[in-house]
Amino acid sequence: MDVGGDDGGDGGTGERWSSVADAWAELWGALAAPAWPPLLSAAGAGPGSRVLDVGCGTGELVGHLLAAGAVTAGVDPAPAMVGRAAERHPAATVVEGDAEHLPFDDGAFDVVLAVNALQLADDTGDALAEAARVLAPGGRVGIACWAEGSRNDLDVVERAVAAAFEEDVPPDGPLRAPGGLEAALTGAGLEVVGSGIVDVPWTAPDDDRLVRGVLLGEDERTLRELAPAVLAAAAPFRTPGGAYRLANAFRWAVARTPA
Ligand SMILES: C[S@@+](CC[C@H](N)C(=O)[O-])C[C@H]1O[C@@H](n2cnc3c(N)ncnc32)[C@H](O)[C@@H]1O
Repeated sequence: MDVGGDDGGDGGTGERWSSVADAWAELWGALAAPAWPPLLSAAGAGPGSRVLDVGCGTGELVGHLLAAGAVTAGVDPAPAMVGRAAERHPAATVVEGDAEHLPFDDGAFDVVLAVNALQLADDTGDALAEAARVLAPGGRVGIACWAEGSRNDLDVVERAVAAAFEEDVPPDGPLRAPGGLEAALTGAGLEVVGSGIVDVPWTAPDDDRLVRGVLLGEDERTLRELAPAVLAAAAPFRTPGGAYRLANAFRWAVARTPA
């Protein structure tokens, strides 16, 4: 599984993400938290607003939205992700579904968010059209995705591992480039009202969790085989205490539907 990249839809997405739900929560669940405050602020998500988190994963943002007083829903195609998010946050409505086919009525939300998820949709335009459909007039869409690879230490590690095994690394997808989110939102007929870039460092407390995090979803044999390449590539990011801290960035953008 390409944790730090684009990894577009492949028809088996729900099952693949389900298989890593527990590991995602443990190793990656906190990654996007620095992107939430600017996103929620620009989107106007707060007490009483009806907010949908698309690709909600194990529900970290769902919990944050509930704590902020929002009437919160989450949707994700991976049953185990939905199960975990729903179990953690019974006050939210969390259901199975994907960004291109949202199981909600027209105009049901004031804000639709997608954090580290829109890049997984088969068709970005279809996903944004669905977001616009479930928004009330004047509602807002907020997206956060990985910034371009050159800003991310995780990409350095993933590229080194790929090179060690003579594999090709796909180029950055269009959402990752400067202006990429804004272009997608504008192309969907939405008006951009704010955008920015935010640091999202990833920390792994030890070698084991570094390897399992970078190689999320790989089997035990692959973990053993690739561990030396991962550890070598991540050596520049090792702290004196034996943990790893990888600097990365997310870009975010918020747009509104025509009032
Ligand atoms: C990288 S995880 C991010 C989860 C969560 N948003 C977070 O920030 O921790 C991507 C999530 O998107 C979901 N996903 C994959 N394809 C999707 C699609 N087409 N529409 C909506 N969500 C999708 C996956 O099941 C997974 O839970």
